[in-house]
Amino acid sequence: MESGNDSARRIGRRQFLIATIGSAALASCARGDRASPSGTTVITPSASEVIEAERLRRRNGARIRDFELRATTSEIDLGGIVVTTWAYDNLVPGPLLRMQAGEVASVRVTNELSDPTSVHWHGLVLRNDMDGVPGVTQHEIEPGQRFEYEFAVPEAGTYWFHPHSGLQLDRGLYGAFIVDDPDDLGAYDDEWVVVLDDWLDGTGTTPETVFAALAQGMGGQGMGGHGMGGEDGAPMTRSSPLLGGDAGDVDYPYYLLNGRVTTAPEERSIRRGSRLRLRVINAASDTAFRVALQGHRLRVTHNDGRPIRPVDVEAVLVGMGERFDALVEVGDGAFALDASAEGKGSFARGVLRSSDGDVPVSDQAQGREPILLARTMPLAPTSVREPDRVFTALLGGDMMDYVWTINGRRFEDTEPFNVEIGERVRLRLRNRSMMWHPMHLHGHVFDVRGGSAKDTVAVLPSETVDIDFDADNPGQWMLHCHNGYHLEGGMMGQVNYVRAKRP
Ligand code: C2O
Ligand code: CU
Repeated sequence: MESGNDSARRIGRRQFLIATIGSAALASCARGDRASPSGTTVITPSASEVIEAERLRRRNGARIRDFELRATTSEIDLGGIVVTTWAYDNLVPGPLLRMQAGEVASVRVTNELSDPTSVHWHGLVLRNDMDGVPGVTQHEIEPGQRFEYEFAVPEAGTYWFHPHSGLQLDRGLYGAFIVDDPDDLGAYDDEWVVVLDDWLDGTGTTPETVFAALAQGMGGQGMGGHGMGGEDGAPMTRSSPLLGGDAGDVDYPYYLLNGRVTTAPEERSIRRGSRLRLRVINAASDTAFRVALQGHRLRVTHNDGRPIRPVDVEAVLVGMGERFDALVEVGDGAFALDASAEGKGSFARGVLRSSDGDVPVSDQAQGREPILLARTMPLAPTSVREPDRVFTALLGGDMMDYVWTINGRRFEDTEPFNVEIGERVRLRLRNRSMMWHPMHLHGHVFDVRGGSAKDTVAVLPSETVDIDFDADNPGQWMLHCHNGYHLEGGMMGQVNYVRAKRP
């Protein structure tokens, strides 16, 4: 068992490794080559198969949508609380990027930060070399530099973007990416894009400081009495039966809905009786939210951007990286849209208003029974194809050293899951740790066995969740926990496309 010092040293080594890979040619990505089974070669992000897959995705004459993102240090007013943080275009959340299915996104990212950065397009089935993973699919974007992302976007949905560099997501670097479906026109009258977050940056600490404390063994149960209390000063237990025990590792002073603290919420005025589409995105690093709209039930229509068999619920539990869309018919009055920070004794809030009135001060989502997004049902029957390969990913952790692993290994030592184009692949996510993990696979939509299509799925302690996907998007793809601190602690693996060597 290693000491806290050892793990700090190993993290240093990983940063060094990534920097080294970044300055070498990515085409010979060392990690992939080393681990490819004999007789096969790795399909790298620049391989012809990747270009061919993109060609098939791209419609002739598809319109190109140009966007700009400037990652920069900003002063942000969260609603009476001003913090210095990192953000896109001086906004938290960052600018909303919006396009139509079938178009091509062209996003020019400028790095005005002091650190290297990157942008990952969460949930999009896109070309591998635009996936935004430094050291694997691209070089870091160095301070003062630019990177242009360009990729076809065939599928509508609610997506989002964030850096794939260290703990930068737990600052203000995130935003919604909405892809409209022309066929949706008329299905709703109005829309509210809701981005949830847990916030500590610039409040006397930073994500890196918090991670260092966790790595020094001040994590786990010990950290509750250790520092930042809840906004309301309530004792932090961070426990949730819904999540199978421990709800998170970090106590945050604030929870935000669209960049606003609970006491200064965003208000949306919407005509009574109109059909409102909510698009809810959990951009937090360590917090699941229980989302409910006072006085209404939610008709959940989409899970991680993809349509599901609609279901009417009291509340939805949304893990980090997950999204859901819901329809409501707006009643008469003012209603709190509350997002309980699950197990953390605090909440984020927005206000929906169709006439005058006040909303109660207390958390309106607390006590409402939520649906888990892992349990929604598909709109159309999912593929019954038997997998050609089955892999097990054991999710493990050591709270004392704050080491998080897949199959006993941290990312720098990962053994990739090797797949070939055309296969049906099953990943058996088996949680052997004491905590839940929202597991995300890049570049693919998977079918949760017994559930619907998703790209991020919560795996509770001692639970096993099977996810099946078609290996139809060649390249090198990350599989990781979307708890930012678990990810930084090593909980990331890799799905490698390989080609069998010609005889
Ligand atoms: Cu939302 Cu690997 O990312
Ligand atoms: Cu995790």
